[in-house]
Amino acid sequence: MKDILDQLDKRRETARQGGGERRIAAQHAKGKLTARERVDLLLDEGSFEEFDMFVEHRATDFGMAEQKIPGDGVVTGWGRINGRVVFVFSKDFTVFGGSLSGAHAQKILKVQRQAMKVGAPIIGLFDAGGARIQEGVESLAGYADIFLENTLASGVIPQISVIMGPCAGGDVYSPAITDFIFMVKDTSYMYVTGPDVVKTVTHEDVSHEDLGGYRVHALKSGVADGAFENDLEALTQVRRLIDFLPLSNREKPPVRESFDEPYREEPSLDTLIPANPNKPYDMKELILKVVDEADFFEISPDYAKNIVVGFARLDGQPVGIVANQPMALAGVLDIDASRKAARFVRFCDAFEIPLVTFVDVPGFMPGTKQEQGGLIRHGAKLLFAYAEATVPKITLITRKAYGGAYDVMSSKHIRGDINYAWPTAEIAVMGSKGAVEIIFRNQTQEQLVEAEAEYKARFANPFVAASRGYIDDVIMPHGTRRRIVKALKNLKGKQLSNPWKKHDNIPL
Ligand code: HXC
Repeated sequence: MKDILDQLDKRRETARQGGGERRIAAQHAKGKLTARERVDLLLDEGSFEEFDMFVEHRATDFGMAEQKIPGDGVVTGWGRINGRVVFVFSKDFTVFGGSLSGAHAQKILKVQRQAMKVGAPIIGLFDAGGARIQEGVESLAGYADIFLENTLASGVIPQISVIMGPCAGGDVYSPAITDFIFMVKDTSYMYVTGPDVVKTVTHEDVSHEDLGGYRVHALKSGVADGAFENDLEALTQVRRLIDFLPLSNREKPPVRESFDEPYREEPSLDTLIPANPNKPYDMKELILKVVDEADFFEISPDYAKNIVVGFARLDGQPVGIVANQPMALAGVLDIDASRKAARFVRFCDAFEIPLVTFVDVPGFMPGTKQEQGGLIRHGAKLLFAYAEATVPKITLITRKAYGGAYDVMSSKHIRGDINYAWPTAEIAVMGSKGAVEIIFRNQTQEQLVEAEAEYKARFANPFVAASRGYIDDVIMPHGTRRRIVKALKNLKGKQLSNPWKKHDNIPL
């Protein structure tokens, strides 16, 4: 009996060694942790239960029959984050470069399916060279099976991907379907085809970093929702994010006790808006001063900075915050900002996370680049996302709400539940200068100045909208937290559903 137990210990030890000491040392030398070290840091201490540690690939071509490593390049299982169940898979670069074989795919599929059954998030840690080249179509089939599970799980359980090394070829599309992608700066990169293929096809010389590093995806393409300094920071931040999310769409988001006075007043907000309407101010200051304990988990902070999105709590209730940022491009809505916010709004709606929207928007971005890039369709994404969302929607206009952007930003007209404005709000078709230049085209400069003053006095305030009931109340800035917390409480019983349909046709 003792022999058998020893044998199990030995087998386990071999599996834990992955690709062996040399490759583990190489992994560490690159500043990366191993697949198992990552899982240990992600999950509560001692909570990891591993599946399929002894799974091996079944390939025989190219001498593969003689090269078998138990676990086959991915560590899978379940554990807990702050006591709540999550499923995890972590690609092991030390085993065949973390590449995906048929057996490796089956391991991932098992945790994906279990996560759906149990109703718990799944977190994938990526560090891999794509399809197992020795396996051919077996590997392609495995990828497609994973993509299907990702798609079916979308909107049912939160799915999070962390890119912690190479993520190439077939490996990119599973993260792309998930809700959030985070990268580790300088050690991770993701692309569909690598530098060698790029060179052959387009004759471009490009490095891994310039083709798919965090600067590409967290700053330009928007594929990644954030980038962190190292493995430890990335995993710690994923733990933080999970705390805001429900485990699945079968339950409500996790309310927890708040140590921040729910009706706390913030007198400094009374002077947040500068006297000059063209002067920017930092919308994040408003967010941090309003939410519980100034705790705000921002999504995509370095992409489309003209809109700020992220998770916070108000009196313990998780909320999704969407806010125009006057500090970047005057807070205008452009293609990137519309796409970024639309995706976020849809995530919140899918998981019953109420939306709080802070509006200071001068309109949609004009210009040939934007129009040729499809601003009409991309802008419509945000409009559509807000309009179809049935979660509680609370909106506060702090300053500008001009033109179509007023309608889009969770206005009363697209089922905003509670719409507030500060006395500094200006709700109009456009800014007064632009407006009088159009309606008084042939007037003298003097007449224009006079007309502008009149337009401003007539429209650059929240009271016209309030007189029609489009704004429920004009509120004092210092009372913002109190009013929003109360609104959230009063909206707890909200029930609203959309007409039956197979699915909608959001302008993709
Ligand atoms: C099998 C692989 C592998 C792969 C790496 N390895 N990628 N084994 N299949 N796809 C192995 C290497 O042989 C090596 O084994 C070990 O992993 C480490 O690889 P290195 O090349 O030494 O590491 P590094 O220099 O860090 O380069 C990492 C890399 C490179 C950039 C990811 O390995 C690479 O370019 N790999 C191939 C990427 C690729 O083209 N994949 C296929 C994409 S097509 P030893 O034994 O020496 O440790 C695809 C189609 C699917 O995925 C589409 C589905 C939709």
